[in-house]
Amino acid sequence: FTVDWDASAAEKGGWDSFMDKEIHEDPAAVQRTLIGRMDDHGTINLDEIHIDEHELKMIDKIIVVACGTASYAGMVAKYAIEHWVRIPVEVELAHEFRYRDPILTPRTLVVAISQSGETMDTLMAVRHAREQGSKVLSICNTQGASIPRESDAVLYTHAGPEVAVASTKAFVAQITAAYVLGLYLAQLKGAMFRDEIRSTLQSLKEMPGKIEWILDTQTEPIERAAQRLVDAKSFLFLGRHVGYPVAMEGALKLKEIAYTFTEGFAAGELKHGPIALVEDGEPVVFIVPPKHGRDVLHAKVISGIEEVKARGATIIAVAEEGDQDVERYADIVFWRPACPTLLSPLVDVVPLQLFAMDMAKQKGYDVDKPRNLAKSVTVE
Ligand code: G6P
Repeated sequence: FTVDWDASAAEKGGWDSFMDKEIHEDPAAVQRTLIGRMDDHGTINLDEIHIDEHELKMIDKIIVVACGTASYAGMVAKYAIEHWVRIPVEVELAHEFRYRDPILTPRTLVVAISQSGETMDTLMAVRHAREQGSKVLSICNTQGASIPRESDAVLYTHAGPEVAVASTKAFVAQITAAYVLGLYLAQLKGAMFRDEIRSTLQSLKEMPGKIEWILDTQTEPIERAAQRLVDAKSFLFLGRHVGYPVAMEGALKLKEIAYTFTEGFAAGELKHGPIALVEDGEPVVFIVPPKHGRDVLHAKVISGIEEVKARGATIIAVAEEGDQDVERYADIVFWRPACPTLLSPLVDVVPLQLFAMDMAKQKGYDVDKPRNLAKSVTVE
């Protein structure tokens, strides 16, 4: 009696690729990154951050440094932290940061985001910031890696090991950690009311269930969309506000594993260039902000959709369940449940991760090991 046993298949736990498995671990990655960091009364405890509270209170600027997907998590962090803490947040690609003589003071907090903790450019940015006397806090998924070891403090994302080269669950965990950090700083600085922090944390705790809803209900429509669009030569991705980094990440995912030419843009830039690329049948993906809250942004994105639709584009929208304006114009909609705008990247990115994976599978590519890419870039 023999049993065929394949170690790699066993590690995939029944999924046919690590990427599929890891996208399905998005909810757990968010949940585990929240666990133990807040109490029942809505107070955030980050004793793990070994930077003196007084020093943290004095911070007057944050610079996020990262590469690739992690840099888009940094862009989401900017929107949330500036809104909650009211201090300026810059986001910079680590390789640009270190060569441009950035202004760093002891009151600057540099936040290095890295899944692997080994990306050479991010590590060098950490070293440069510390040499200049700034504190460095890293958001990292790998215990004991070089970046956390060389930082003043670390906030680990608990996404679990990520094997597929294209980052998925680590991205949602990085965003979650950035939210926790933002709310913690708001608590320290008294920038938000306790009730506001409590209710935001409550909404954050509900996000894994919302991601689960997408995985349960949208998988098939996304697969069908990939079948329909598999021959498309290029895609544009447009988003506003926190939808902008999501558009960038959606474009990156599709480029990385389906080898499709993609560009991500801020939707407000449409008239400043991207619209020239729109011709009959061009697929354009819109991240549509929710209609409640920031109504103005919703209307603006819808008007962008109308403009490209009039030029014959195929509209793919990621939108909040029940958005009738989107239903009217979009050819394909990936729905996601309602949630506060600032938290929406956690749900909006999930259909785009699935879509990129399905497109790559349709084309017969190895979704876990895309050509020419490495999981961790440890050289300059
Ligand atoms: C490589 C990977 C990306 C990742 C980037 C940053 O390019 O292929 O998926 O986003 O590095 O990696 P890090 O480990 O620093 O997050």
